[in-house]
Amino acid sequence: MKMTKLAILVVMIAVALFILVPSLSWAEDGAAIYKTKCAACHGADGAGKPAAKIPSLVSDDAKKKSDADLTDMIANGGPNKKAMHAFVAKGMTPDQVKAVVAAVRDMQKK
Ligand code: HEC
Repeated sequence: MKMTKLAILVVMIAVALFILVPSLSWAEDGAAIYKTKCAACHGADGAGKPAAKIPSLVSDDAKKKSDADLTDMIANGGPNKKAMHAFVAKGMTPDQVKAVVAAVRDMQKK
């Protein structure tokens, strides 16, 4: 009886860790980078600033962009090589770019 309860508890903790840890470590990193490097222009919720011609990252259009498009936009400034976006030239690692893309995808789901 006692053993069964203990076994169930262990399984529940294992499942909880399995679900929480990978998503936390990912989302946290990307979300933190987004907050420091992107939110000033694109807004905390990714809505952008239409008045300043800063596009929304959570619009239907933005959702249609591929991961490769987003990655290039963030890492190198996209096809037009926008300087404010060449984050790799400013020292962002490919892993950090990936985490930011994941964070943007997360925002698009909300
Ligand atoms: C200095 C302000 C500024 C900062 C900081 C900035 N952006 Fe942008 N972003 C813009 C502007 C302006 C555009 C529109 C560029 C264009 O029209 O070609 C844009 C476009 C984009 C696009 C393309 C959207 C579309 O629909 O075409 C993505 C994706 C994007 N930004 C993501 C990011 C992410 C992620 C970060 C942080 C790592 C970031 N931006 C930081 C100003 C900024």
